[in-house]
Amino acid sequence: MQDALGEIQSVLVLGGGSDIGRSLCLRLVKGRCRTVVLAGRPEDGMDAVAADLRAAGATTVETVLWESTDPGSHQAVVDDVFDRFGDIDLVYAPAGILGSQQAFDADPAFAAAAVAINFGGLVSSSLAVVERFRRQGHGTLVLMSSVAGVRTRKDNYVYGSTKSGLDAFAQGLGDSLVGTGIKVMVVRPGFVKTKMTEGMDAAPFSTTPEKVAELICDGIAKGKEVVWAPGLLKFLFFGFTNLPRAVWRKVSDR
Ligand SMILES: NC(=O)c1ccc[n+]([C@@H]2O[C@H](COP(=O)([O-])OP(=O)(O)OC[C@H]3O[C@@H](n4cnc5c(N)ncnc54)[C@H](OP(=O)(O)O)[C@@H]3O)[C@@H](O)[C@H]2O)c1
Repeated sequence: MQDALGEIQSVLVLGGGSDIGRSLCLRLVKGRCRTVVLAGRPEDGMDAVAADLRAAGATTVETVLWESTDPGSHQAVVDDVFDRFGDIDLVYAPAGILGSQQAFDADPAFAAAAVAINFGGLVSSSLAVVERFRRQGHGTLVLMSSVAGVRTRKDNYVYGSTKSGLDAFAQGLGDSLVGTGIKVMVVRPGFVKTKMTEGMDAAPFSTTPEKVAELICDGIAKGKEVVWAPGLLKFLFFGFTNLPRAVWRKVSDR
């Protein structure tokens, strides 16, 4: 249960090995958060994140199995976490893959798997979470979109469209929950230096997982519905989304 100052005391992370998730949890544990449940795949780097969080002062850190492409299991996984750990103030969902457009072009089934991981599995999990938030009467859900989903580029439109779908879902879900005490925030980062982007040339306005974590915490504290990371991208993409397609094709060619 969030304390009197509204500080997060418990968090569930869907995609527990995420670098941004690790930074966010470390930041929360520096505050009042003591319970962290990391949910992900067995090969996910969750154990290393769990060790870091214990060392940082979290008293309850557990890992549970959660596979984004297995929607039939999601309600049971979420129920198990809420039943065992009590109120969960924040559910953060960083699970996702980037892939490459060339790999998706060469293997359409891989493209469909990316949709299932980045979008489908987060829809089923979010709905399961919201059902439990309703029962406890409060909660914040944070979903990770991307600027790649705000205006898709020809060189990563499969990834971009998974994020467009998730972004639209987050907005509709958030609107449907106004007045319930449940909040949904969508985060739109640009290029973040994590294992997801390892080996890639940093794009303009690139940022770090620590900075994204700071912006997410600030957004939660202020009750924001959308957070851009960095904030300047909001204005840049306002311009980009209004460009004619022929111009965007040229501008986004890199
Ligand atoms: N980094 C960026 O530049 C950037 C920019 C915009 C948006 N984002 C979004 O921000 C989120 C977090 O990114 P990040 O940089 O922290 O990435 P990350 O460190 O690669 O974390 C992504 C997590 O998703 C997990 N995952 C992948 N497939 C899964 C599946 N089928 N079931 C369950 N978990 C699965 C990964 O597990 P494994 O370790 O086992 O693969 C990993 O722990 C992602 O949704 C990403 O799309 C990132």
